[in-house]
Amino acid sequence: MDVVISPTPVSAASQAGAKVAEAIANNPRLVLGVATGSSPLGIYEYVRREIEENGLDVSGITCFALDEYVGLPEDHPESYHRVVAATVTEPWGLKPEQVHVPAGNTGNPRQAALDYDQAIKDAGGVDLQIVGIGGNGHIGFNEPGSSLGSRTRVKTLHPRTREDNARFFDGDMNAVPIHCVTQGIGTILDAGSVVMIASGEAKADAIAKMVEGAVSSNCPASALQLHPHVFVYIDDAAAADL
Ligand code: GLP
Repeated sequence: MDVVISPTPVSAASQAGAKVAEAIANNPRLVLGVATGSSPLGIYEYVRREIEENGLDVSGITCFALDEYVGLPEDHPESYHRVVAATVTEPWGLKPEQVHVPAGNTGNPRQAALDYDQAIKDAGGVDLQIVGIGGNGHIGFNEPGSSLGSRTRVKTLHPRTREDNARFFDGDMNAVPIHCVTQGIGTILDAGSVVMIASGEAKADAIAKMVEGAVSSNCPASALQLHPHVFVYIDDAAAADL
Protein backbone atom coordinates (compact mmCIF):
# COMPACT_ATOMS: atom_id res chain seq x y z
CA MET A 1 0.00 0.00 0.00
CA ASP A 2 1.31 3.43 -0.91
CA VAL A 3 0.03 5.89 1.68
CA VAL A 4 0.33 9.58 0.75
CA ILE A 5 -0.41 11.99 3.60
CA SER A 6 -1.28 15.57 2.67
CA PRO A 7 -1.81 18.58 4.92
CA THR A 8 -5.37 19.25 3.74
CA PRO A 9 -8.30 17.37 2.18
CA VAL A 10 -7.95 19.57 -0.91
CA SER A 11 -4.33 18.61 -1.48
CA ALA A 12 -5.13 14.91 -0.90
CA ALA A 13 -7.89 15.14 -3.52
CA SER A 14 -5.55 16.90 -5.97
CA GLN A 15 -2.94 14.16 -5.62
CA ALA A 16 -5.56 11.46 -6.09
CA GLY A 17 -7.14 13.39 -8.95
CA ALA A 18 -3.79 13.64 -10.71
CA LYS A 19 -3.35 9.88 -10.36
CA VAL A 20 -6.76 9.22 -11.95
CA ALA A 21 -6.24 11.80 -14.72
CA GLU A 22 -2.85 10.26 -15.54
CA ALA A 23 -4.44 6.79 -15.78
CA ILE A 24 -7.06 8.14 -18.22
CA ALA A 25 -4.41 9.94 -20.27
CA ASN A 26 -2.34 6.74 -20.47
CA ASN A 27 -5.32 4.57 -21.45
CA PRO A 28 -8.11 6.29 -23.37
CA ARG A 29 -10.18 3.06 -23.07
CA LEU A 30 -9.78 2.94 -19.28
CA VAL A 31 -12.44 1.10 -17.28
CA LEU A 32 -12.79 3.30 -14.22
CA GLY A 33 -14.54 2.29 -11.02
CA VAL A 34 -16.26 5.27 -9.40
CA ALA A 35 -17.47 5.67 -5.84
CA THR A 36 -20.12 7.83 -4.23
CA GLY A 37 -19.87 9.73 -0.94
CA SER A 38 -18.34 13.14 -0.39
CA SER A 39 -14.71 11.96 -0.36
CA PRO A 40 -14.18 11.43 -4.13
CA LEU A 41 -15.80 14.73 -5.15
CA GLY A 42 -12.43 16.51 -5.24
CA ILE A 43 -11.11 13.83 -7.60
CA TYR A 44 -14.08 14.29 -9.94
CA GLU A 45 -13.61 18.06 -9.91
CA TYR A 46 -9.88 17.68 -10.64
CA VAL A 47 -10.62 15.45 -13.64
CA ARG A 48 -13.35 17.85 -14.85
CA ARG A 49 -10.79 20.65 -14.91
CA GLU A 50 -8.32 18.46 -16.80
CA ILE A 51 -11.04 17.79 -19.39
CA GLU A 52 -12.01 21.45 -19.74
CA GLU A 53 -8.63 23.12 -19.43
CA ASN A 54 -6.20 20.54 -20.77
CA GLY A 55 -8.35 18.56 -23.18
CA LEU A 56 -8.19 15.24 -21.31
CA ASP A 57 -10.10 12.80 -23.55
CA VAL A 58 -12.71 10.75 -21.68
CA SER A 59 -14.77 9.82 -24.74
CA GLY A 60 -13.54 6.21 -24.71
CA ILE A 61 -13.64 5.40 -21.00
CA THR A 62 -16.23 3.25 -19.27
CA CYS A 63 -17.30 3.76 -15.65
CA PHE A 64 -18.75 1.28 -13.16
CA ALA A 65 -20.14 2.50 -9.84
CA LEU A 66 -19.54 0.50 -6.69
CA ASP A 67 -23.04 0.32 -5.30
CA GLU A 68 -26.67 1.42 -5.23
CA TYR A 69 -29.50 1.49 -2.73
CA VAL A 70 -32.28 -1.08 -3.12
CA GLY A 71 -35.76 0.31 -3.64
CA LEU A 72 -34.88 3.93 -4.36
CA PRO A 73 -36.22 5.18 -7.72
CA GLU A 74 -33.35 5.92 -10.11
CA ASP A 75 -34.44 9.55 -10.38
CA HIS A 76 -34.43 10.04 -6.58
CA PRO A 77 -31.81 12.74 -5.85
CA GLU A 78 -29.95 10.39 -3.48
CA SER A 79 -30.04 7.30 -5.68
CA TYR A 80 -26.49 6.53 -6.75
CA HIS A 81 -27.71 6.56 -10.36
CA ARG A 82 -28.52 10.24 -9.86
CA VAL A 83 -25.44 11.00 -7.70
CA VAL A 84 -23.05 9.47 -10.26
CA ALA A 85 -24.85 11.32 -13.07
CA ALA A 86 -24.54 14.63 -11.23
CA THR A 87 -20.92 14.24 -10.08
CA VAL A 88 -19.30 12.27 -12.95
CA THR A 89 -21.40 11.69 -16.07
CA GLU A 90 -22.67 15.24 -16.54
CA PRO A 91 -19.61 17.28 -15.43
CA TRP A 92 -17.29 15.09 -17.51
CA GLY A 93 -19.60 15.17 -20.53
CA LEU A 94 -19.86 11.37 -20.69
CA LYS A 95 -22.62 9.64 -22.62
CA PRO A 96 -25.04 7.82 -20.29
CA GLU A 97 -24.13 4.50 -21.93
CA GLN A 98 -20.50 4.95 -20.77
CA VAL A 99 -21.58 4.78 -17.12
CA HIS A 100 -22.95 1.75 -15.29
CA VAL A 101 -24.59 1.67 -11.86
CA PRO A 102 -26.09 -1.47 -10.25
CA ALA A 103 -29.87 -1.73 -10.68
CA GLY A 104 -31.27 -1.45 -7.17
CA ASN A 105 -34.83 -0.62 -8.09
CA THR A 106 -35.83 -3.78 -9.91
CA GLY A 107 -38.08 -6.66 -8.87
CA ASN A 108 -35.02 -8.89 -8.64
CA PRO A 109 -31.98 -7.08 -7.20
CA ARG A 110 -30.19 -10.41 -6.59
CA GLN A 111 -30.22 -11.13 -10.31
CA ALA A 112 -29.26 -7.52 -11.03
CA ALA A 113 -26.21 -8.00 -8.78
CA LEU A 114 -25.13 -11.14 -10.65
CA ASP A 115 -25.66 -9.39 -13.98
CA TYR A 116 -23.58 -6.41 -12.81
CA ASP A 117 -20.65 -8.59 -11.75
CA GLN A 118 -20.79 -10.22 -15.19
CA ALA A 119 -21.00 -6.85 -16.95
CA ILE A 120 -17.76 -5.76 -15.28
CA LYS A 121 -16.07 -8.98 -16.46
CA ASP A 122 -17.48 -8.52 -19.97
CA ALA A 123 -15.96 -5.01 -20.05
CA GLY A 124 -12.55 -6.60 -19.37
CA GLY A 125 -12.53 -5.76 -15.64
CA VAL A 126 -11.98 -2.47 -13.84
CA ASP A 127 -8.54 -0.97 -14.52
CA LEU A 128 -8.59 1.60 -11.74
CA GLN A 129 -11.07 1.64 -8.87
CA ILE A 130 -11.71 4.77 -6.80
CA VAL A 131 -12.92 4.03 -3.27
CA GLY A 132 -13.79 5.96 -0.14
CA ILE A 133 -14.03 4.36 3.28
CA GLY A 134 -16.88 4.27 5.76
CA GLY A 135 -16.26 5.25 9.37
CA ASN A 136 -16.64 1.55 10.23
CA GLY A 137 -14.12 0.48 7.59
CA HIS A 138 -16.60 -0.40 4.86
CA ILE A 139 -15.68 -0.14 1.20
CA GLY A 140 -18.50 0.14 -1.29
CA PHE A 141 -21.26 -1.03 1.00
CA ASN A 142 -19.31 -4.05 2.26
CA GLU A 143 -20.01 -3.74 5.94
CA PRO A 144 -17.92 -5.34 8.73
CA GLY A 145 -18.41 -9.09 8.55
CA SER A 146 -18.50 -9.15 4.74
CA SER A 147 -16.68 -12.06 3.17
CA LEU A 148 -13.32 -10.96 1.81
CA GLY A 149 -13.98 -12.99 -1.36
CA SER A 150 -17.51 -11.66 -1.89
CA ARG A 151 -18.90 -10.73 -5.30
CA THR A 152 -21.56 -8.16 -6.22
CA ARG A 153 -24.63 -8.95 -4.13
CA VAL A 154 -27.49 -7.61 -2.04
CA LYS A 155 -26.45 -6.55 1.46
CA THR A 156 -28.13 -5.07 4.53
CA LEU A 157 -26.75 -1.68 5.57
CA HIS A 158 -25.27 -1.38 9.05
CA PRO A 159 -27.20 1.01 11.32
CA ARG A 160 -24.03 3.14 11.61
CA THR A 161 -23.92 3.54 7.83
CA ARG A 162 -27.59 4.48 7.76
CA GLU A 163 -26.90 7.04 10.52
CA ASP A 164 -23.84 8.36 8.62
CA ASN A 165 -25.87 8.69 5.41
CA ALA A 166 -28.96 10.20 7.07
CA ARG A 167 -27.41 13.59 6.30
CA PHE A 168 -28.32 13.01 2.65
CA PHE A 169 -31.94 12.23 3.61
CA ASP A 170 -32.87 15.38 5.60
CA GLY A 171 -31.21 13.87 8.68
CA ASP A 172 -33.80 11.08 8.81
CA MET A 173 -32.13 7.69 9.27
CA ASN A 174 -35.46 5.98 8.63
CA ALA A 175 -35.51 7.44 5.13
CA VAL A 176 -32.20 5.70 4.31
CA PRO A 177 -32.86 2.40 2.52
CA ILE A 178 -32.11 -0.77 4.49
CA HIS A 179 -30.63 -2.78 1.63
CA CYS A 180 -28.18 -2.12 -1.16
CA VAL A 181 -26.50 -3.82 -4.09
CA THR A 182 -22.74 -3.54 -3.77
CA GLN A 183 -19.70 -4.83 -5.58
CA GLY A 184 -18.13 -7.43 -3.32
CA ILE A 185 -14.71 -7.18 -1.75
CA GLY A 186 -13.51 -9.85 -4.17
CA THR A 187 -14.94 -7.81 -7.05
CA ILE A 188 -13.09 -4.70 -5.86
CA LEU A 189 -9.85 -6.67 -5.42
CA ASP A 190 -10.06 -7.72 -9.10
CA ALA A 191 -9.36 -4.11 -10.17
CA GLY A 192 -5.94 -3.44 -11.68
CA SER A 193 -5.26 -0.71 -9.13
CA VAL A 194 -7.18 1.01 -6.35
CA VAL A 195 -7.12 4.68 -5.38
CA MET A 196 -8.50 5.39 -1.91
CA ILE A 197 -9.36 8.91 -0.80
CA ALA A 198 -10.30 9.85 2.77
CA SER A 199 -10.09 12.86 5.04
CA GLY A 200 -11.08 14.00 8.48
CA GLU A 201 -10.72 12.63 11.99
CA ALA A 202 -13.89 10.53 11.67
CA LYS A 203 -11.93 8.28 9.28
CA ALA A 204 -8.73 8.03 11.37
CA ASP A 205 -9.65 4.82 13.20
CA ALA A 206 -10.80 3.05 10.03
CA ILE A 207 -7.66 4.17 8.15
CA ALA A 208 -5.37 2.88 10.93
CA LYS A 209 -7.14 -0.50 10.94
CA MET A 210 -7.04 -0.67 7.15
CA VAL A 211 -3.31 0.10 6.90
CA GLU A 212 -1.88 -1.39 10.10
CA GLY A 213 -4.51 -3.78 11.43
CA ALA A 214 -5.05 -7.46 10.75
CA VAL A 215 -6.61 -8.43 7.44
CA SER A 216 -10.07 -9.17 8.71
CA SER A 217 -13.71 -8.87 7.73
CA ASN A 218 -14.08 -6.73 10.87
CA CYS A 219 -12.49 -3.98 8.77
CA PRO A 220 -13.44 -4.75 5.15
CA ALA A 221 -10.98 -2.15 3.81
CA SER A 222 -8.10 -4.15 5.37
CA ALA A 223 -8.56 -6.58 2.45
CA LEU A 224 -6.83 -3.93 0.33
CA GLN A 225 -3.58 -5.02 2.05
CA LEU A 226 -3.83 -8.11 -0.19
CA HIS A 227 -3.83 -6.02 -3.37
CA PRO A 228 -0.45 -5.15 -4.94
CA HIS A 229 -1.41 -1.73 -6.35
CA VAL A 230 -3.27 0.37 -3.77
CA PHE A 231 -2.71 4.12 -3.44
CA VAL A 232 -4.15 5.78 -0.35
CA TYR A 233 -4.53 9.58 -0.31
CA ILE A 234 -5.40 11.00 3.10
CA ASP A 235 -5.09 14.25 4.99
CA ASP A 236 -3.31 14.74 8.33
CA ALA A 237 -6.54 14.28 10.30
CA ALA A 238 -7.34 10.91 8.71
CA ALA A 239 -3.71 9.87 9.28
CA ALA A 240 -3.79 10.77 12.98
CA ASP A 241 -3.95 7.17 14.28
CA LEU A 242 -1.22 5.78 12.02
C1 GLP B 1 -21.14 5.42 1.34
C2 GLP B 1 -20.61 4.77 0.07
C3 GLP B 1 -19.15 4.43 0.20
C4 GLP B 1 -18.39 5.64 0.72
C5 GLP B 1 -18.92 6.04 2.08
C6 GLP B 1 -18.17 7.18 2.70
O1 GLP B 1 -21.42 4.52 2.32
N1 GLP B 1 -21.32 3.57 -0.28
O2 GLP B 1 -18.65 4.03 -1.06
O3 GLP B 1 -17.02 5.35 0.81
O4 GLP B 1 -20.27 6.40 1.88
O5 GLP B 1 -18.76 8.39 2.37
P1 GLP B 1 -18.07 9.79 2.60
O6 GLP B 1 -16.97 9.87 1.61
O7 GLP B 1 -19.14 10.79 2.32
O8 GLP B 1 -17.59 9.81 4.00
